[in-house]
Amino acid sequence: MYNIAVIPGDGIGPEVIAEGLKVLKAVSEKFKFKYQLEHFDLGGERYLKTKETLPDSVLNKLRGMDAIYLGAIGHPDVKPGILEQGILLKIRFQLDQYINLRPVKLYPGVDTPLKDKRPEDIDFVIVRENTEGAYIGSGGFFKKGTPDEIAIQEAVHTRKGVERCIRYAFEYCRKRNQRNKVTLCGKTNVLTYAFDLWERTFHEVAKNFKDIETNYSHVDAICMWMVKNPEWFDVIVTDNMFGDIITDLGAIIQGGLGIAAGGNINPEGVSMFEPIGGSAPKYAGKGVVSPLAAVSACQMMLEHLGEEKTAQGIEEAIMKVVARDVKSLSAGKMGYSTSEVGDLVVKYILSGFKV
Ligand code: IPM
Ligand code: MN
Repeated sequence: MYNIAVIPGDGIGPEVIAEGLKVLKAVSEKFKFKYQLEHFDLGGERYLKTKETLPDSVLNKLRGMDAIYLGAIGHPDVKPGILEQGILLKIRFQLDQYINLRPVKLYPGVDTPLKDKRPEDIDFVIVRENTEGAYIGSGGFFKKGTPDEIAIQEAVHTRKGVERCIRYAFEYCRKRNQRNKVTLCGKTNVLTYAFDLWERTFHEVAKNFKDIETNYSHVDAICMWMVKNPEWFDVIVTDNMFGDIITDLGAIIQGGLGIAAGGNINPEGVSMFEPIGGSAPKYAGKGVVSPLAAVSACQMMLEHLGEEKTAQGIEEAIMKVVARDVKSLSAGKMGYSTSEVGDLVVKYILSGFKV
C-alpha cells in the first residue's frame, strides 16, 4: 500500500493532476497494487486566504508519505518568490530531495524544434543538484533603494552535497546502461571556486565507475551542444542554477512543457514528482493543456516506488497517444481536451496496448 500525497497546486496543476490520478487508478487495477491518496490544498489560493504557505503540520505529514505528486506552484496575484520559496523549495530542502532528475526523451511522433534530429538522437537525463547553490536564499541588500545599493546573493556548494549528487549521476548512468557516459556541466573558467570543487569531486567519484566515460562541458557551450548534438549526451550532472536553466532547454527539445516531467528525489527519503511546466495561469480551467507531462511524472513516481512494469506500461501508453492521437502537445492544439488525452492513455493501458 502506497501513501501518496497529492498537491494539485495552482493554475493548470489541478486539471493535469486529475488526469495523472485517472491513470494511476487504471494502472493500479490492471497491475494490482494498492494506494491511498491524501490531498493538500497548498498553493496561491490558500496563501491569499490564510497567508500560510507550508505549515509545519503539513510538512510533518509529507514526511510520513511514500511519495508526493505535485501539479504546479505559482499564482499571478502573489509576488514571485513567496510561493516558490515557501512551498516548492521548502519541500525540496526540508525533505532533502537533493536530486532533481529530468529525462529528456523525444518520442516518435512528437515534434522537436531541432531539424533533422530523431528519437534516437534525443534521449538523455539531466541530474540537477536540488538543495544548494544559488537557491539557498542567502544574501541581502545593503542601502536598498539608494544609489549606493548593494545586492548580494550567495551560492553555496558543499563537498557532501556535490558528492552525493555526482555519485547519484554515475549510479543512475550505470543503471540506465545506454551510452554509459556522464557529462559534468559547469563553469570552471569563471566560477573558479565552486566548479573547482565540482570538478575535483567529479574525477574522484569517477574512479569508482571505470565502466563509465566522463566528459566536461561549460554551461554556455552545453546550450549549443544540446541543440546541435543532443546525441552526445547520456547523463548530464550539474548544479542547481545551471540545472534549472538547461532543463528548460531540454524540455523544449523533447517537445515542450506538455511532455516534460521531473522528480525531486531523496534516495533515502520521500520524493516528489511533478510536470515541469509551471502553473500557466492563462490556460487554467480551459481544458486545453497536455496532461502528458503530469502522466509522465506519475510514471516516474511509480518507477521510483518500485513498480517498474507499471511505469513501463504508462510510458508505452504515452508513446501510443503521441504517435497516433494528439496533433501537437501545445496548449489548444492537441485536437483533444486535457481529459480526453487522459482517457486515451487509460484506453491504451486497459486494452493491453493493442488498440
Ligand atoms: C523548476 C522551477 C523552479 C526552480 C521555480 C518555480 C522556483 O523553475 O522546478 O525548475 O527554479 O527550481
Ligand atoms: Mn525551472
